[in-house]
Amino acid sequence: MRSNYCGELRKKHINSNIQLCGWVDRSRDHGGVIFIDLRDITGTIQITVDPDQGSELFSIAETLRTETVIQINGIVRSRPPESFNKKLKTGEIEVLAKDLTILNQVKGILPFTVSIHDEEPVKEELRLKHRYLDLRRERMKHNLCLRNEVIKAARNFLEKENFLEVETPILTRSTPEGARDYLVPSRVCEGDWFALPQSPQLFKQLLMVGGIERYFQIAKCFRDEDLRADRQPEFTQLDMEMSFMSQEEILTINEKLIASIWKTINGVELALPFPRLTWQESMDRFGTDRPDTRYGMELVNVSELLKDIGFKVFSGAIAAGGSVKCINIKGGNTAISNVRIKPGGDIFSEAQKAGAKGLAFIRVRENREIDTIGAIKDNLDNTQKEKLLKLTNAEEGDLILFGAGETEIVNKTLDKVRQFLAKDLGLITSNETKNRWNFLWIIDFPMFEFNSDENRLEALHHPFCAPNSEDIGTEEASWIEKLPKARAQAYDLVLNGLELGGGSLRIHQSELQLKVLETIGIQLKEGKEQFGFLLEALEMGAPPHGGLAFGLDRMIMLLTGEESIRDTIAFPKTQQARCLMTEAPSSVSNKQLKELHISNMSKKNE
Ligand code: AMO
Repeated sequence: MRSNYCGELRKKHINSNIQLCGWVDRSRDHGGVIFIDLRDITGTIQITVDPDQGSELFSIAETLRTETVIQINGIVRSRPPESFNKKLKTGEIEVLAKDLTILNQVKGILPFTVSIHDEEPVKEELRLKHRYLDLRRERMKHNLCLRNEVIKAARNFLEKENFLEVETPILTRSTPEGARDYLVPSRVCEGDWFALPQSPQLFKQLLMVGGIERYFQIAKCFRDEDLRADRQPEFTQLDMEMSFMSQEEILTINEKLIASIWKTINGVELALPFPRLTWQESMDRFGTDRPDTRYGMELVNVSELLKDIGFKVFSGAIAAGGSVKCINIKGGNTAISNVRIKPGGDIFSEAQKAGAKGLAFIRVRENREIDTIGAIKDNLDNTQKEKLLKLTNAEEGDLILFGAGETEIVNKTLDKVRQFLAKDLGLITSNETKNRWNFLWIIDFPMFEFNSDENRLEALHHPFCAPNSEDIGTEEASWIEKLPKARAQAYDLVLNGLELGGGSLRIHQSELQLKVLETIGIQLKEGKEQFGFLLEALEMGAPPHGGLAFGLDRMIMLLTGEESIRDTIAFPKTQQARCLMTEAPSSVSNKQLKELHISNMSKKNE
């Protein structure tokens, strides 16, 4: 149907007879000559329709509306230098049309303009409802092409490293990754249900037991959880598992994988190895396990210094087992007014979102004098004041914000405020930081965290992570006692404040696996019922193994500079987990339900 692609034509094609197919991006009648911008996946080229080439051709061209699908035959020629279009890669040439066929007309009015010349923002709902039109636009085309390049680069690297690409089932049992499952009723096995995989976690471990040694997959995962800009109910992981590798070896190979992707996509040489930070240090210094290290404003724990001061908000919080931490905002005195920190202000409301009642603050004035609204100042003697300024590295012009209370809430509050202020003060978009790729491994996560709603421990990652052997020792009898405080051999890769991936070494002995399940409240009988296949496999020669999964959509989001993973996925769902185009999920008929042995559940039938 075509001899060439529009965007590939260059000066070397001058005088060639060619045939092109594509969409009319726009069409302009310039004093008897019609110029059509013809667009295909590769780009756009100008087609000139001259009445000298035949009146029938010209009258077809006159009828063309944007987005009509056409085929043209013509000859490539140079444009006069004064009409070169520097914005187009094909801007020095054009095609003189000899013949034009309409392959498909556009009926009715398009819901939005698709043209490369139109950069009007279109509402996201409209883009999602007519995603096929949105995909024709430059932004989505670019994002999907880049996604394809990333997958190619990853496959390339992993193939060279002897990884085997294996698909794992979509209809399966529940895998506990911490979200709700999407469930599918079985027609054949009456009353039984499949769960869509939250990740291929157990299958990839079983592949290791199966002797595959190095596995990867571009894996679809399904999680019914509250959605955010970086979360979709159906998303893709670049998923891996390896046998006979230490944690350090797994981190190293993954750094090389990431470096090779970044080099292919951006031409950037990332410095290896990536820095590593223990979970505890990350919580202490940033209040979060996914810190953005492109800017400062680190958290400083001043509990020891302020534990006895007369200011009860501080001393009381410490006495109750909590802490007082602060961040120093350089030059904050001029940049941030009191109104913004006090009730009703935007910074106050950020703190409130994290559960804080408010923020105390100190401004550092001339000659290191300090200035506050509340009672802190009157309760600080000179030595304490000097120590505080030293600990926070504060100088004239700086603003120190304090959080006091339960350590978890203080951390959460200052993390939120720190991120908010970094955006507000332009710290991420400054010339110095904007092209920074701050990769960071967080290691030594705790095995468990306490779920206060359910009054029980739950796995911080998932219950298949291996505990640190130093923390539990070799005495099986003491595992149950030692496990709750143990660290996991788990790691996350964080990039500019976003969790890009995570993984761990796995438990490869059934006894230890059972003890970990017991720690999260899954007793022997239930453990065997839910994970019998895994426990059995672990007893049949399971090698030591470990792995990791990257969120592919998140990786593309960071590489394209998009703010939502929806813009990296061809057909994403909304925040309400709906597809606006197909209108899924939808009700089903009584007949379908009956076949599935489910009684009347359809909304239609209510
Ligand atoms: P985890 O649950 O940390 O680990 O997921 C790995 C990575 O997947 C991405 N991710 C998501 N992306 C978009 N939408 C979501 N709802 C979503 N949830 C997670 C994140 C995350 O870092 N089986 C383990 C991996 C392992 O241990 O090997 C797992 O799934 O980028």
